[in-house]
Amino acid sequence: MTKPANKTPPAILREDYLPPDYRIETARLHFDLGESRTIVKSQLAVVCSHDHSEGLRPLVLQGQGLKLLALKVEGRSLREKDYEITDEALTIWPETDHFTLDIETACDPGGNTELSGLYRATGMFLTQCEAEGFRKITYYPDRPDVLARFSTTIAAEREKYPVLLSNGNLVAAGELPDGRHFATWHDPFPKPAYLFAMVAGRLARIEDKFTTMSGREVALHIYVQNHNREKCRHAMDSLKQAMKWDEETYGREYDLDLFMIVATDDFNMGAMENKGLNIFNSKYVLAKSDTATDKDFQNIMGIVAHEYFHNWSGDRVTCRDWFQLSLKEGLTVFRDQQFMEDMTSPGVQRISEVNILRTHQFIEDDGPMAHPVRPDSYMEINNFYTMTVYNKGAELIRMCRTILGPEGFRKGTDLYFLRHDGQAVTTDDFVQALEDATGTDLTQFRRWYCQAGTPEIQVTRSYDALAQTYALTIKQTCLPTPGQPVKEPLHIPIALGLLDKSGADMPLQLVGEERPVAGTRLLQLREAAETFLFIKVPQEPVPSILRGFSAPLKVALNLTDVERRFLMAHDSDAFNRWDAGQQLALKLILSLVRDYQEGRPMALESKFIEAFRQILSKPTADKAFQALILTMPSETYLADALEVIDPEAVHEARKFVRQTLAGTLQETFLTVYRQNQDSGPYRLDQEATGRRSLKNVCLAYLMELADGEGRDICLRQFDQAKNMTDVMAALTSIANHAGREREEALATFYEKWQDDSLVVDKWLALQAASSLPDTLERVKALTGHPAFTLRSPNKVRSLIGAFATNQVRFHNISGAGYAFLADYILALDSLNPQIAARLASSFTTWRRYDARRQSLMQSEFERVLQAPKLSRDVYEIVAKSLNYV
Ligand code: BES
Ligand code: ZN
Repeated sequence: MTKPANKTPPAILREDYLPPDYRIETARLHFDLGESRTIVKSQLAVVCSHDHSEGLRPLVLQGQGLKLLALKVEGRSLREKDYEITDEALTIWPETDHFTLDIETACDPGGNTELSGLYRATGMFLTQCEAEGFRKITYYPDRPDVLARFSTTIAAEREKYPVLLSNGNLVAAGELPDGRHFATWHDPFPKPAYLFAMVAGRLARIEDKFTTMSGREVALHIYVQNHNREKCRHAMDSLKQAMKWDEETYGREYDLDLFMIVATDDFNMGAMENKGLNIFNSKYVLAKSDTATDKDFQNIMGIVAHEYFHNWSGDRVTCRDWFQLSLKEGLTVFRDQQFMEDMTSPGVQRISEVNILRTHQFIEDDGPMAHPVRPDSYMEINNFYTMTVYNKGAELIRMCRTILGPEGFRKGTDLYFLRHDGQAVTTDDFVQALEDATGTDLTQFRRWYCQAGTPEIQVTRSYDALAQTYALTIKQTCLPTPGQPVKEPLHIPIALGLLDKSGADMPLQLVGEERPVAGTRLLQLREAAETFLFIKVPQEPVPSILRGFSAPLKVALNLTDVERRFLMAHDSDAFNRWDAGQQLALKLILSLVRDYQEGRPMALESKFIEAFRQILSKPTADKAFQALILTMPSETYLADALEVIDPEAVHEARKFVRQTLAGTLQETFLTVYRQNQDSGPYRLDQEATGRRSLKNVCLAYLMELADGEGRDICLRQFDQAKNMTDVMAALTSIANHAGREREEALATFYEKWQDDSLVVDKWLALQAASSLPDTLERVKALTGHPAFTLRSPNKVRSLIGAFATNQVRFHNISGAGYAFLADYILALDSLNPQIAARLASSFTTWRRYDARRQSLMQSEFERVLQAPKLSRDVYEIVAKSLNYV
């Protein structure tokens, strides 16, 4: 097929940025809510912001899917020849440099299935405006660098919509004729339209309060459907902890008298930081121990904190344009990661962050959608809410903090917030503030923002016993990415330690330095290759490189297995202790993959089993950490290490390792499982969650055995457990083993939880993630189940999305999984293109597979491209994957 040039939407380029021609001082909105017809009246105070000595430029207001009912300048209606209207914009030609513009439009919230703009779902009206949804509500300069003060009046039927919310403070409310009522909200902080929000519905309110560091009292309200009112305690506690932490850690105080969270089942994303009125996917608000897992509780805490932290890193200081998205998202992800490191176990938290980065962001950076943290172009901005912008972006902030040190970094962020409060700025402005506050030169560091791709450092070492010196030579490289053939050397902070024979950190002294430094120290690599020479090194050390994963890159260092086991046992850095184990397992499983591919019997060396036994049986204080060390690298991570991905071989080799360990160490697994049973009341502290994760890792191993005790234990846990963590752990294992018990357990579970939508999501997801051969058939059948609907992003993610990340089943060589996914991408494209595009990204790794799978995926892509009307969202992913654009 040839490139369908006519379909290609224009790329938006960063270099084309121009400041806005007009400012909006105030925006007074009036909503008359009707299910199929909502009337929006907008009154804008417009002020020219360009040099108009040569004349006034036209004012362009974005708008989509709107019906224009009235348009007035200074109270006088415009005639049709005075404005121009297209599918995407309304243009007028102002005659004065400031004026009042009145716009009246109608839209159809009931017919809005995209869940962007104003929509109605589960009996509520809701808005979602980031990134470009406000233009579906009214004509407006819908760009983040136009900041206005908003006042919003909402009018609706009182009976159906007793609660009416918008940003800021409630300033008026009252009755209207015909059973209607209204509320008026005023937000004193100027903000871009993407932070606007409005909610109307029948909602229960959970209240609490927080006293800020300057002694102001802030009311905290969480709104949920009435039957969920008992499930908000954890979200509320998380919010209060986040508010306190941000005061202590960043000096950031909340600035309104009211902070609201609304939960909805119908939401494209996780949550949204609208000023004073965050809107959340209910998955990230609602939790009780019998319906939510420990992981869910943790996610809620992290996401509530994330959206709250945006109040400063996003709302008070926002983005100049969408290329700067990482300014707010990278920084806020870093802040929520830090918060979680402080609230839970820092080592465990860091490992989970790195796991996400390595298994998803590295893969994105290596594929057709690879882009820098600050992209240079996009077709559809919604496709750029990526792991790179978010998670790699957070790593860049973390590196800045490592380079500047905690105090320097805090000085830098203080200056950033002070200098740019109320402004829309760039990632460069952020780095500049760090530089100015500390006198550090980050010129070279800025390259991290513009270069895509995962760098690799190659480390070689040499010890000179006579001179007592130790030389580390570090070389950095980065492969080309689309549009970036050549890469410049980056400024890389490398935290490291050198372990002596006892396993202790040696004091480290570089040649030319006065004194040694104890423990971990920082090397700063700036050249393509550099040698760091340590002096007074009395014995050959074992190097522990990139402690805490101090930079987002791959490390090539030829440690021996003995050295890796030594690091596992002794490294003072928790992350590197874990990583040494992962690298050992990786190497081992990859060699088994080759055995499997070449028809040789697989075998596990006894040294590996022995090392594993030691970790398993040694009582450890941090059980969550122990559980992580006992977990083999994921199939995705293993696959990424192969030249050509072989999903089946990866699955079989990993399973072989797990089965062999389970078979050899069955008794030990049983002992540890029993020791960590907890029959007391449910607790969410680290000790209790650690026990559960260790116990459940043991259970999953035991379940690998066809005829062990595992099965009975698992079924008993499934029947008797009172918390969802243990129930899900058991059911997940059960779902991976065919048989009557599996069918019964799945049926019992559904029977019990069918009225709890979030629990039903889990039920769908675990079936879609099963490695059993009938998974696709089952998923297909489940698409017809009454619990499933294409209209709900959560349902789509749970079933179709989970299936698309099921390495072994999705990539089955028949290609049936691919055809299935393509059908759903097409079906969803006209309903909800954002969700369709997310699904399509599962295909973007297609070049990493063998020729047969490549061609199967390619033909599905081409089938998608043939669709008569394809959204820009899906088009961009598919066309870039095929190198058409
Ligand atoms: N601003 C985003 C939400 C968003 C993203 C809205 C894209 C519209 C388009 C929000 O702050 C966010 O980042 N949410 C994340 C969760 C977060 C903890 C990383 C999300 O929704 O996945
Ligand atoms: Zn965010």
